[in-house]
Amino acid sequence: MFNLKQRYGEWAMITGGSSGIGAALARILAAQGMHLVLVARRSDALIAFAGELTRKHRVQVRVLSADLATAEGSRQVLSAVEDIEVGLLVPCAAVEERGYFVECSNYQLESMLQLNVASPMMLVRRLGAKMASRGRGAILLVSSLSGWMPQPYMAQYGACKAYIAALGAALHVEMKDKGVDVSVLSPGPTDTPMAAGTGIDFAKMGMTKMTPHEVAMSGLSALGRRMDAIPGGKNRLMAWMMSRLMSRARAAALFKRMLQRATSGRLSR
Ligand SMILES: NC(=O)c1ccc[n+]([C@@H]2O[C@H](COP(=O)([O-])OP(=O)(O)OC[C@H]3O[C@@H](n4cnc5c(N)ncnc54)[C@H](OP(=O)(O)O)[C@@H]3O)[C@@H](O)[C@H]2O)c1
Repeated sequence: MFNLKQRYGEWAMITGGSSGIGAALARILAAQGMHLVLVARRSDALIAFAGELTRKHRVQVRVLSADLATAEGSRQVLSAVEDIEVGLLVPCAAVEERGYFVECSNYQLESMLQLNVASPMMLVRRLGAKMASRGRGAILLVSSLSGWMPQPYMAQYGACKAYIAALGAALHVEMKDKGVDVSVLSPGPTDTPMAAGTGIDFAKMGMTKMTPHEVAMSGLSALGRRMDAIPGGKNRLMAWMMSRLMSRARAAALFKRMLQRATSGRLSR
């Protein structure tokens, strides 16, 4: 299935690889015999997970504890992988916010921008350049359904994810010239700690949570084949309606109504 190791090389790096979708990707790749670099802040969770993967699959797992909400965090990660060839990169770590944009602190907005946008951008630039010079490699960018529509009350998260989707779509074409496959994974609600922490009742939005494994499989299966992976038929329909069928103004107004219903009117946390 996928033959990712044969196509791209032995090592994959996943940021946010200790939990949720990142951990599901790690499990699939380890089962395929790929060595892993897993990045997150909490080293205890990373170490425990690495132990599980090495015991089960006899692969090497390098864990890096770094805060990617700081520019220094991305630099640390890059210098820690200088001695290996990262053949598959998945910059997956991100956080979301909810509430009035103007009521978020500068610190919150800046660290979100660093983690959700600047860190993936920097990792793709640096590791993508090495892949390009080798003439092979793959990058799976992790956007969200949120990147396909304006999201009032989640404005910064939606804007970050729109950047990732736009960057990935362009690089999907551009990096083909260099032998590197780039795809964008845009999950809808997925059963992870992040989704649980939003306080949003997704069923009231007419949406069903998918498992991290289903989402991870959808992303990996797109590599080398499709620009976009939107797991789940309902999610694909929602992306199409919000980005193609409706004007941006109508999509924004509809999202507000959906969020109001799904949070019993508590648009802010
Ligand atoms: N869950 C959903 O419904 C959903 C929907 C659409 C898109 N997505 C996207 O999918 C990706 C994964 O989300 P998830 O739901 O799987 O998240 P999750 O379960 O909350 O996991 C987040 C991961 O990122 C790490 N992380 C968080 N802040 C970090 C920081 N400052 N520096 C380094 N690592 C950090 C976390 O570990 P530490 O806390 O130890 O750092 C953890 O490994 C994200 O890009 C998210 O936007 C998720």
